[in-house]
Amino acid sequence: MSVEIFGKVNQIIEEIKTASPKAKEEIEQFRIKYLGSKNVLKPLMGEIRNIANEQKKDYGQLVNQAKQVAEAKFQQLKDALESAAEDASAHNIDLTAPGEPIELGSRHPNSIVMNRIIEIFQRMGFAVAEEREIEDDWHNFTAMNTPEDHPARDMQDTYYLKDSTEMLLRTHTSSVQARVMTTTQPPIRIIAPGRVYRNETISARAHCQFHQVEGLYIDEGVSFADLKQTLLHFSKEMYGPNTRIRLRPSYFPFTEPSAEMDISCFVCDSKGCNICKYTGWVEILGCGMVDPQVLENCGIDSKKYSGYAFGMGIERQAILKYKINDIRLLFENDVRFLKQFSSTL
Ligand code: PHE
Repeated sequence: MSVEIFGKVNQIIEEIKTASPKAKEEIEQFRIKYLGSKNVLKPLMGEIRNIANEQKKDYGQLVNQAKQVAEAKFQQLKDALESAAEDASAHNIDLTAPGEPIELGSRHPNSIVMNRIIEIFQRMGFAVAEEREIEDDWHNFTAMNTPEDHPARDMQDTYYLKDSTEMLLRTHTSSVQARVMTTTQPPIRIIAPGRVYRNETISARAHCQFHQVEGLYIDEGVSFADLKQTLLHFSKEMYGPNTRIRLRPSYFPFTEPSAEMDISCFVCDSKGCNICKYTGWVEILGCGMVDPQVLENCGIDSKKYSGYAFGMGIERQAILKYKINDIRLLFENDVRFLKQFSSTL
């Protein structure tokens, strides 16, 4: 009798170990069978009174062991069920759910204006020349005929590199004229877009950094008429076919003669508004015939060649075009401001 009953308990232990319920209901059945209030081990525990005294201890331990095996197995089954549920939810991708929105950036107003200017001049055969922002004194000033005592060279107006009287942040893109003319023989026809720096107090109307586009054309027999016609064509392309231009005599050390160019106000068509300050004209750029001395400084024969140059500020045009009332907004990188501008100009 007692051998038989030991065998029965062992058989149950084996049964528990090999059981493999997976579904929730099957696991519940397992629990009821081995651990529930009417579990199969209970009557076997009751059989202890029929066991011979010297075997009672071993029998009790065996039934207890069966109970522990059942508890451990149940825990294991429950854990497996839970992690299976977690896995399922992790891989449960809803392919019909709407996608995450991707924020698209927008062109900076400076870039829009600059790209438009570049595009217009490229169509007229100008190549883009980009050069360094950290320049030496010679390319920025000396080659460009700017005398030693010119106020532009002053520490007050130019950022010099620490402990250097030679290296500086370029104050205009005219330094690219010198870079190109010293390395290329005419014909030269380039535009040079880029950032420039001046030691200005930052305000709504001025900044210590801004952008310019420089133009340079050197060949045999280039005249002021060529300059004027090129600028007129540019102005009509940029500001509309009815745009008129006006050249006012001016002075730059590197051009002779020099001029400043105004365009007819594109906001009021020269009727008078606060953009043109009721003059009907808006100043856009500086220009002139390249001073023969500048050609010679850069190794170009001024008896054979002549040329014109012009330089225009980008921020100024962006501000006018988009009616921006504070130049600082162009340098703050506030997306709420920047995303208002469309790329088509
Ligand atoms: N470099 C001048 C400026 O920064 C502009 C300019 C360029 C004038 C070329 C004449 C010719 O104001």
